Amino acid sequence: MKAIVYRNYGTPDVLQPEELPKPIPQGKELLVRVRASSVTAGTIWMRRGVFPGSKLFTILLRLFTGITKPKRPVLGLEFSGIVEAIGNHVTQFQVGDEVYGTTTGLKQGAYAEYVCIPESGKQGVVAHKPKELTFEEAATLPIGAMTALNLLLKAKIEKSDKILIYGASGSVGTYAVQLANQFGAQVTAVCSNANLDLAKSIGAYEAIAYDRTDIPRLGARFDIIFDAVGKIPASQLKPLLVKTGRYVSIKSMTSEKKHYLDLFQQYISEGNLKPVIDRTYPLDQVREAHEYVELGHKKGNVVVVVADK
Ligand SMILES: NC(=O)c1ccc[n+]([C@@H]2O[C@H](COP(=O)([O-])OP(=O)(O)OC[C@H]3O[C@@H](n4cnc5c(N)ncnc54)[C@H](OP(=O)(O)O)[C@@H]3O)[C@@H](O)[C@H]2O)c1
Repeated sequence: MKAIVYRNYGTPDVLQPEELPKPIPQGKELLVRVRASSVTAGTIWMRRGVFPGSKLFTILLRLFTGITKPKRPVLGLEFSGIVEAIGNHVTQFQVGDEVYGTTTGLKQGAYAEYVCIPESGKQGVVAHKPKELTFEEAATLPIGAMTALNLLLKAKIEKSDKILIYGASGSVGTYAVQLANQFGAQVTAVCSNANLDLAKSIGAYEAIAYDRTDIPRLGARFDIIFDAVGKIPASQLKPLLVKTGRYVSIKSMTSEKKHYLDLFQQYISEGNLKPVIDRTYPLDQVREAHEYVELGHKKGNVVVVVADK
């Protein structure tokens, strides 16, 4: 099968096409013919083998990805596609099902024509694709939306909470704004002036430009502050909390849970959760997609189309 591999850490040039053996699903695994994947900020760190701004986190990252060179040479942390074959012990999926999910912790990512995913287990999550979403949209939902939901739950979000979402225009940010609305919270989105309309269009009660306003000096106070991009120190945001306020950041560990995807299905079918797509690239232009995401200003999500039918 055709795949894009990286045999060394480095610039987008390390991403190269290669022929790999087609995986064979075992036991509880599904063989998925991949339709789309994405480029997230996390994919960029894995390709570089460097966690920005932290030697400690870089060491932890390399323990996971490989000390001197990548242990798992195919990137693509999330996917959508069609089940082509199933292992003997699969119970929840059938050949032909449209699915989406993550490849976190698995041997191989989704920058390839096929990927094997366990139907349940400790690594990777997979669910039926919401029919309201295209394959391209579905491939960008799991990581950003699960990260956002995990952090909102950590913050014990409640109806009527006032929440400030700093960095509301990236993948995690755009999902966090929409999900916080589902909990009945009042969202103040912080993004660049260019993205104010985007933040309001996805449900922010108000949007403030970080490049026009001194955010640490805002007069307002919030029940929750959610840092969705990690570009401002916690010490500058925490004074904006009320006394009982809660601070959460994408710099902390989050976890993927399959039942989150079930909740997303409900919000999506009610028309209250929709991926924001910035750009779409074919698999053979994945280097260009990485170059774009590396600039740090994508609006929502960037899709990689692996196969268009
Ligand atoms: N903890 C976890 O498990 C986990 C999971 C997923 C992601 N993450 C992390 O979450 C972060 C966000 O990832 P992402 O994929 O959503 O987006 P991203 O590619 O890291 O960020 C894109 C967004 O950041 C905004 N931005 C850039 N500089 C900013 C600044 N100084 N202040 C406010 N916003 C700024 C940009 O908006 P403008 O163009 O308007 O500036 C753009 O919309 C990354 O650090 C990622 O690694 C963590």
